[in-house]
Amino acid sequence: MVKKAWTAIGLMSGTSMDGVDAALITTDGEAMLEPGLHLTTPYDSAFRDRLRDLIADPCDVASVEQELTAFHARAVSALLRAADISPTEVDVIGFHGHTVLHKPEEARTWQIGDGAKLARDTGIDVVYDLRSADVAAGGQGAPLAPVFHRALAAKMPRPLAVLNIGGVANVTWIGDGEDALIGYDTGPGNALLDDWIRRHTGNPFDRDGALGAAGRSHPLKLAKLMTHPYFNEKPPKSLDRDAFAAIAVDVLRDLSVEDGAALLTAFTVETISQAAIHMPLQPRQWIVVGGGRHNQALMDGLRARIDAEITSGDAIGWSGDAVEAQAFGYMAVRSRLGLPISYPGTTGTPRPMSGGVLAQKP
Ligand SMILES: Nc1ncnc2c1ncn2[C@@H]1O[C@H](COP(=O)(O)OP(=O)(O)O)[C@@H](O)[C@H]1O
Ligand SMILES: [Mg+2]
Repeated sequence: MVKKAWTAIGLMSGTSMDGVDAALITTDGEAMLEPGLHLTTPYDSAFRDRLRDLIADPCDVASVEQELTAFHARAVSALLRAADISPTEVDVIGFHGHTVLHKPEEARTWQIGDGAKLARDTGIDVVYDLRSADVAAGGQGAPLAPVFHRALAAKMPRPLAVLNIGGVANVTWIGDGEDALIGYDTGPGNALLDDWIRRHTGNPFDRDGALGAAGRSHPLKLAKLMTHPYFNEKPPKSLDRDAFAAIAVDVLRDLSVEDGAALLTAFTVETISQAAIHMPLQPRQWIVVGGGRHNQALMDGLRARIDAEITSGDAIGWSGDAVEAQAFGYMAVRSRLGLPISYPGTTGTPRPMSGGVLAQKP
């Protein structure tokens, strides 16, 4: 029997709060997948501030959620226009929403985003709330992208690592065999560095890693940061965006903007390279996706610290800015088919789990 090919759109609003990534993908929810067009619609700084305030103190949830959902509906329209297709040609949207709280140790994870409103506004079925079922079953609810990374890397030599450097960094380890799939957050990605750069320069991030490359990291301060208990924990494990904010404030005190950027860049590099101790076999190659791959100081640091080939996803034909969004399109299709999106090795769920809530178009 020929499996149905679904046309899906994945929507991701990452912890970096840089905007909404929207990506088209055609897939049967299993091995067949063809990534399509993608677009990033950046948030303006006022909305970014509203999101940041909400995460610090979730009080104005309803209005921010409506605004966020309307923003996602506009991101869908922009993508449909760019691809020159109509809503009726899209079978499903995978809507991640925006994480305002992630405390898996308390069995709580919370992504805002009104799936029913998005289905109404776009005229497309929406699968949303993709993390809750996993958390309710005892999983971390994150990372979810591994199932997609494995499909995307189906033809590549194993063992392989796929590293996503977003606000938080997460890695997927893919070995031989059905069960050889592990995923966990490694530590900070860009979020700490972004916050530091914004505070000192007003810019949203360290473009190309220029400030980080110009500064000097302090080994003792780095060692202090590495004492955080998270790094010794065995996976499955996942992180809240601001898990390291408190310890970083302390260590960064009195540093110049360049030296602070160098230290935070080294922190991300060090935690990623140390995360490899949790892999059963060392990968031959690391494929890097997410915005952090644009940070040259970070990429140079990874190449110096990790004894394997470090390749940007773009170099092998992946769209490094769209992989996470594509993953949520892929997961929406799997959700519709009742297929698992999380596994014991990726989130710590006791058994492979599907997930997501369906909101049907009117
Ligand atoms: N040219 C660049 N130079 C350095 N860093 C960049 C560049 N472009 C993007 N980034 C980083 O990537 C981040 C966005 O990455 P993204 O993968 O979208 O993360 P998230 O999924 O958390 O939103 C930005 O906040 C910034 O830190
Ligand atoms: Mg982003």
